[in-house]
Amino acid sequence: MTQILVTGGTGYIGSHTVVELQNAGYEVVIVDDLSNSNIDVLDNITKITGKKLAFEQFNLADAAKTDEFFSRNKNIAAIIHFAASKAVGESVQIPLHYYRNNLVSLMNLLDCQLKYGVANIVFSSSCTVYGQPDKLPVTESTPRKDAESPYGNTKRVNEDILHDTIHANPQLKGIALRYFNPIGAHPSALIGELPLGVPQNLVPFITQTAAGLRKELSIFGNDYDTVDGSAVRDYINVVDLAKAHVIAIERLLKGKNKAGYEVFNLGTGNGSSVLEIVNAFEKVTGVKLNYIIVPRRAGDIEKIWADTTYANNELGWKAEKGLEETLLSAWNWEKRVRRIQ
Ligand code: UFG
Repeated sequence: MTQILVTGGTGYIGSHTVVELQNAGYEVVIVDDLSNSNIDVLDNITKITGKKLAFEQFNLADAAKTDEFFSRNKNIAAIIHFAASKAVGESVQIPLHYYRNNLVSLMNLLDCQLKYGVANIVFSSSCTVYGQPDKLPVTESTPRKDAESPYGNTKRVNEDILHDTIHANPQLKGIALRYFNPIGAHPSALIGELPLGVPQNLVPFITQTAAGLRKELSIFGNDYDTVDGSAVRDYINVVDLAKAHVIAIERLLKGKNKAGYEVFNLGTGNGSSVLEIVNAFEKVTGVKLNYIIVPRRAGDIEKIWADTTYANNELGWKAEKGLEETLLSAWNWEKRVRRIQ
């Protein structure tokens, strides 16, 4: 069986990707420092797939540990690199932590790829690299803009590190996947997004408000130039997103890539406003949400959504799940975690 290293594999997108990799017949080894995830995720992945996986706990910014791991694991055919710190606001407070953790871990992986002959890597990037684009929807060739936060900067710089390292070492091949806004949970409700503390992202805040953990949802701004004044994003189901990673891995392993370094947008192609998300959630769950309108959040952009033509044509991948089904999956996950009937 082909072995894939999934860094950050107990995290939100990582865990869903591990499930899809196992379903597609890959053997998975996870490396995660559990700084923002729980060890129980491993059992829940196994409950879904019925397959075992290997797990090691350490931080990939530790070069010696990373090297020692690769020296013992000689069968890794490809890496999917999710492990990273990801809180935008926190990254403004502790930038060095973000730069060290997110940049050094990728550099350590690339060093080991060269040393131990692991050719393939899929990198978890973000539409944050586009900033507020001048033209919508954004294609892969839409110019990147200066990042709004150290977190966003690490995504942009990591793309460059990957690009430049592959350029200098043609034996390496890499794909950067630029995610739009991943939401929802596995239909089994066994894995999902479990933020530590107060959620910063919209959908976990909504589900926690519906579950009674938060008094009310604050909607950040209703004076944007959008359909109803609230900000617009391209919300993509996390299982759809996970499936794109399996396709990207296959593309690399089968040599179907058209260049050493490739970039794909992963979104649905549709924008939804915050108020549209709130309304869709209320409709599909029957739960009324308490919300108030507050001023815009610093660093937020007005609107963004993806042009998915390239991913559709080149990867043969398309987001399949609708918004309501996805919001319902997020609610079912929250209910299971909070033991709500
Ligand atoms: N929002 C609210 N209230 C909340 C939380 C969010 O109104 O309590 C709004 C935001 O202002 C924004 C939208 O909901 O308009 C989505 O916000 P999220 O925080 O869920 O997502 P962002 O688009 O801000 O950020 C996400 C990821 C980042 C990534 C970025 C790329 O969390 O990691 O997309 O654009 F960098």
